[in-house]
Amino acid sequence: QANERESLYLVSEFASTYFQRILHKTDKGKAIGLSYFKERGFTDETIKKFALGYSLDEWQAFTDEALKQAYKLEFLEKTGLTIVKGDKRFDRFKGRVMFPIQSMSGRVLGFGGRILTNDKKAAKYLNSPESDIYHKSKVLYGIYQAKQSIAKEDNCYLVEGYTDVIQFHQTGIHNVVSSSGTALTPDQIRLINRLTKNITVLFDGDAAGLRASLRGIDLILEQGMNVKICTFPEGEDPDSFSKQNTLQELNEYLKEHAQDFIQFKASVLYEESKNDPIKKADTIRDIVNSIAKIPDRIKKEIYIQECSRIMDISEQVLFTTLAQITNKDV
Ligand code: CTP
Ligand code: MN
Ligand code: MN
Ligand code: MN
Ligand code: MN
Repeated sequence: QANERESLYLVSEFASTYFQRILHKTDKGKAIGLSYFKERGFTDETIKKFALGYSLDEWQAFTDEALKQAYKLEFLEKTGLTIVKGDKRFDRFKGRVMFPIQSMSGRVLGFGGRILTNDKKAAKYLNSPESDIYHKSKVLYGIYQAKQSIAKEDNCYLVEGYTDVIQFHQTGIHNVVSSSGTALTPDQIRLINRLTKNITVLFDGDAAGLRASLRGIDLILEQGMNVKICTFPEGEDPDSFSKQNTLQELNEYLKEHAQDFIQFKASVLYEESKNDPIKKADTIRDIVNSIAKIPDRIKKEIYIQECSRIMDISEQVLFTTLAQITNKDV
């Protein structure tokens, strides 16, 4: 089994090197892939740092090359890089810019591949399927490039997308990882927990991003970690926003707009319906539910005080509610 996994790692590493070579050394790679990255504002240094690549828009260009280099079809298929149908073989990734997904130690586990147009009908990103080396619920994009900075800054920015991670690096913020569009999982948070206890969630400024942020909060609190949330203007994501701002402006924005989970929930769930008592009750219950997830008693108490202040309700009733929720849980 260890040998088989090793074979999958080797095939994936080969693919990453291959996609990079296509991007940098072939006419099509340069004309299509490299110019796409350049148009997005990625520098050569950034492109190399994230080992970005390009897959030719051909049926089996990659598979042919891999087989020629004596990589076994079995492993090409198991990583999902090659799709086998009867005696036909197809490359999974065709005509896409390639983002290798790396482990904490830098091994290539899988790929995300983006189409070059903004065609709404085609899936924008195609990702490697689950394999013995790639479990998407246990992986954070960018962790390899970010780990030192996360430990040093004692904080981790959590974004949605590949390009958010990359653009942040280019702007000068390196402690950033991405859940890659999937719902955040306990395993992903555990990965961060090894490096820092502090997470700042920076999801896209749209309804989906807001929902994803709300969903992530309890998972983070449950692991005894601290969570802040910073939202972006409607229609912006960390990539587009950081591109329009200098490092100093970006840092200032993050500092000014980062809210703790109580402020965030209060503003999202309640702010727009200030005079609606039912909404207010629901919001308070929602916040207390989150507070109940915090393992530390002292922090619990501090957040109860804050909730009492922000929502203008007595601490007494909040503690009673907290006790009810906690008893229900056990
Ligand atoms: N995603 C995916 N498949 C899709 C759409 C999105 O896997 N069809 C994942 C990708 O990891 C993507 C993340 O979800 O990076 C966030 O999605 P989105 O905000 O739509 O994409 P961006 O990262 O903003 O990509 P871009 O700026 O290239 O449009
Ligand atoms: Mn496994
Ligand atoms: Mn989005
Ligand atoms: Mn986005
Ligand atoms: Mn984007």
